[in-house]
Amino acid sequence: MHKITIAIDGYSSTGKSTIAKQLADWLSYIYVDTGAMYRAITLYAINNNIISEGFFDTEKLITALPSIKLYFKKNIATDKAEICLNGISVEKEIRTLEVSQFVSPIATISEVRRKLVDQQQQMGKEKGVVMDGRDIGTVVFPDAELKIFLDASAEERAKRRYKELLDRGEEVTFQDVLQNVKERDYIDSTREDSPLTKAKDAIEIDNSEMNLEDQFHIILQLAKDRI
Ligand code: C5P
Repeated sequence: MHKITIAIDGYSSTGKSTIAKQLADWLSYIYVDTGAMYRAITLYAINNNIISEGFFDTEKLITALPSIKLYFKKNIATDKAEICLNGISVEKEIRTLEVSQFVSPIATISEVRRKLVDQQQQMGKEKGVVMDGRDIGTVVFPDAELKIFLDASAEERAKRRYKELLDRGEEVTFQDVLQNVKERDYIDSTREDSPLTKAKDAIEIDNSEMNLEDQFHIILQLAKDRI
């Protein structure tokens, strides 16, 4: 069967990864969570004193980049792909509010982006991939056959993220989560290198009032129309 590339971009916590995963499972495509890659680099920076007391050392991080190896590996117990940082799964560690607070500034560094974009293009070069992120339809795969741009109100997105963090046992306040969502959106959309923006040919879906099932069926139909 003819395989296509599906790019799903959008603001923080719009449910991109949930939809992308479902779609990839249904189509038997590869799923790539590019946010996890930026988060893993941020975790590396936290663990290696490149970030301390609220500041990070850009030069130190750029020097360390060649020694940061990232790949996805399926966890046999859960049947889900997990991101590995230098051989160790860090799927849980990258989802904390601390990582969320530093990831967007780290993602503005062009050297970081170049490294990850190269790896993402390699992973998707055979097509048959659903990739979610901020610059997939604009930079990573500008020729993707299907581009979706997801949006929802900041409050609705923060509510979803807050619940996710509480379910994981993190002690956070709703206000902190809402502030983080807004800050990340601002940094992601205003950075110089590959800012978050809707590709001209992307289909925009606001899912503030939409359930997951309806959303999935709409996007699946759009994919089927292109296969
Ligand atoms: O998707 P997620 O919220 O996990 O992404 C974390 C952060 O990584 C984003 O807020 C953004 O700063 C950065 N990111 C990016 N480009 C991507 C994916 C994520 O800049 N393709």
